[in-house]
Amino acid sequence: MPRESEFTPSSSWCPEPELWEAYDYDSTEREVTDLVAAFVRATKPRLVLETGTSYGYTAEAIGRALLANGRGRLVTLEHDAALAAIARTRCRDLPVEVLARDSGLWTPMPGESIDFAWLDSHIIQRVHELVRLRPHFSAGAIVGIHDTGPQHPVHELISKLQLPFPRIRLRTPRGVTFLEMP
Ligand SMILES: C[S@@+](CC[C@H](N)C(=O)[O-])C[C@H]1O[C@@H](n2cnc3c(N)ncnc32)[C@H](O)[C@@H]1O
Repeated sequence: MPRESEFTPSSSWCPEPELWEAYDYDSTEREVTDLVAAFVRATKPRLVLETGTSYGYTAEAIGRALLANGRGRLVTLEHDAALAAIARTRCRDLPVEVLARDSGLWTPMPGESIDFAWLDSHIIQRVHELVRLRPHFSAGAIVGIHDTGPQHPVHELISKLQLPFPRIRLRTPRGVTFLEMP
């Protein structure tokens, strides 16, 4: 697997990107995918949402975590039908529903709420997803947002919103922030 330094240059934010790995520019750093899956293992969510499936590497990791938990399902949204089909094959036999759909068009079923979310669709869209889906998160839900490093526009968008939620921001190459919903 390529080193992340092929996709993200060294910076004062993350001086050693070569310590991370990623399949490609679009797919999440492997170590961050592992962390997302570890959150799922640790918190035992019933409903997990991912926006932006791409090839489905993180969807597969979440699906394996849910399978190990013995409960819960992932809904993952990808507006590119060809990518959705690849991800669906990757996640077959896992509790993962890959929907070829725009993330702006999805809400949970009545009576359901989102226990864990991984927002990773279009880089500008992610913050809008957080705002739009806010009423649909369970109390204490964890929401991960990818690409929150200073080189990405999500960084500034999140700062502007001044979200009143506890958060941890990690200095991974692309940056990742986890929020705790009230
Ligand atoms: C950064 S990649 C996702 C990487 C993946 N989550 C992972 O962890 O490997 C972003 C993906 O979001 C998809 N996308 C962009 N805007 C979208 C939208 N509004 N709804 C659904 N998918 C979208 C793109 O087609 C692309 O495949």
